This record gives sequence, structure tokens and C-alpha cells, in this order.
Amino acid sequence: MDKYKETLDYIYSRTGDFKPEVAIILGSGLGCFCDGIDGITIKYSEIPHFLNAGIKGHKGELLFCTIEGKKTIVMQGRFHFYEGNKLSETTYPIKIFKKLGVKYLFITNAAGATSLEYNIGDIMLISDHINFMGTNPLIGKNDDTLGERFPDMSNCYDKDLRKLALASAKELNIDIREGVYLATTGPSYETAAEIRMFKLLGANAVGMSTVPEAIVANYLKMNVIAFSTITNHATGVSNNTLSHEEVLKAGKVTAQKLNLIIKKMFKKLK
Ligand code: HPA
Repeated sequence: MDKYKETLDYIYSRTGDFKPEVAIILGSGLGCFCDGIDGITIKYSEIPHFLNAGIKGHKGELLFCTIEGKKTIVMQGRFHFYEGNKLSETTYPIKIFKKLGVKYLFITNAAGATSLEYNIGDIMLISDHINFMGTNPLIGKNDDTLGERFPDMSNCYDKDLRKLALASAKELNIDIREGVYLATTGPSYETAAEIRMFKLLGANAVGMSTVPEAIVANYLKMNVIAFSTITNHATGVSNNTLSHEEVLKAGKVTAQKLNLIIKKMFKKLK
């Protein structure tokens, strides 16, 4: 049987006629987005052809719920390249979301800032990205029923959604900035020399996710928006050493603000 069909049939068997319009991928420390929200929860381990998320700070389940009137899938924990999976596998959920009818993809992540112009706790709306992973999730035979072989990337992070994000933040009196996100494969954090280079290349923040998901969602003609929470200054920018625990702790404070912005945006989505 068709791989997608097996996944979809299982999801439909749990969610019935729930028709999601929006999906959101929660990054490290951003799980509180779901606090107090009820819905149908499905563990990744139960879903045919889904990988298992096995990293601290990630729950590993999909939540089907209604947020501000919008039928939503919340992806609580994502799949990373550094776990040893192919990017076509880490981005499989995005293809499933598209097939379930999702139009809008919200992506969040934790990232390190490449300069002191950013403070820990800042929210950065991603205006564009640099794919420094040395690979691409669309490598392989193209499925023309899903998207084009050579997808345009000029509006990967949808301009209208970004306008809406800025307006929503303003209404809430929350400062956000726009910047360029650069993705590495990880899992080691960057060296100071690498961060100096990334800054020269135009990157404002660095992380290990988001870019593959955004590439695939753009290929599928979904409207994409992505936010980084600045959890630390990247290596060499300040004197701190980096630990995953610190990244998680710092993420939580900012997460509350980001949740407010996203929920305000949900209200205004057409
Ligand atoms: N580098 C890479 N990924 C990260 C960082 C960082 O400094 N902070 C959070 N995720």
C-alpha cells in the first residue's frame, strides 16, 4: 500500500473528519504553547512511517486541536538531521500535513545570535535563510504530484504572513525583529571562527533545524512563517559556553511572548 495512505489512514482513524488548516512545529522549550489546550493526541511512535523524536525538551506527539477558531495540528517535537535520518524522512510530516489540507505552516526554533545586537530572549522573525547543511530535503526523484523539481524560493517565508506577525506583535506591544537564519547540521555547536564567517555571510541567528521544513513546505506551496527565540549568543559572541540545558531554560521565558503573537495571528488568518 502507498506509504502516505498508510499514514493518513491511521491519522483519520484517530481524528475522524477533523480538517486542519494550520500546523505548527514547536522548537526546543516551546512546548508550553499547548498548555491548557485539549484535543486528540497521537504519539509519533504510533503513526506509520513517522520517525521517533528522541531529544530532551521534545514530547514526540501530534496534537489535533482548535486554537482561536483554527483547526490546528501541533507538532510537539521535531525530527533533526543530526539524529541520523535522511532529510526526506525528517520532513515527512510536512507532506502529511499538506495532504491533510494544511495551508499555513508555523515553525519555531531556538537559535543562537551571531552578534550582540540581539539579546537573549529576543524573538526573531525569519525573513530568509541560508542553507548551510550541505544537503537539501528535496534531493531524490521528484514526485511531480507534490511540487516542482526546481521550486522558487523568493517568498519562502511568506511576506503577507510576516506583515501579519509584525502587526500582531505591535498590537501586543512585544518587540520582535526580522533576520536571517542559518542552519547547520549540528549536533556540535559552532566554533567561534564559524560564527564569525556566518555573520559575514549575513546570518543573524544560527540553529540546526527549520530550513529543511521550510524548503519542503514552500515546495508544497504552503504559506510558511518561522520564528527563532534567541536563547544564547553563539560561540565567541560572548564568553559563555553552550549547553542544551541553558538553551531550554532561556527558551521558556520567550516562549510565552511568542505564543501570544502566534495566537493573535491565528485569529486573523483567513
Ligand atoms: N547554535 C546552534 N544551534 C542552536 C544554538 C546555537 O548557538 N542555540 C540554540 N540552538
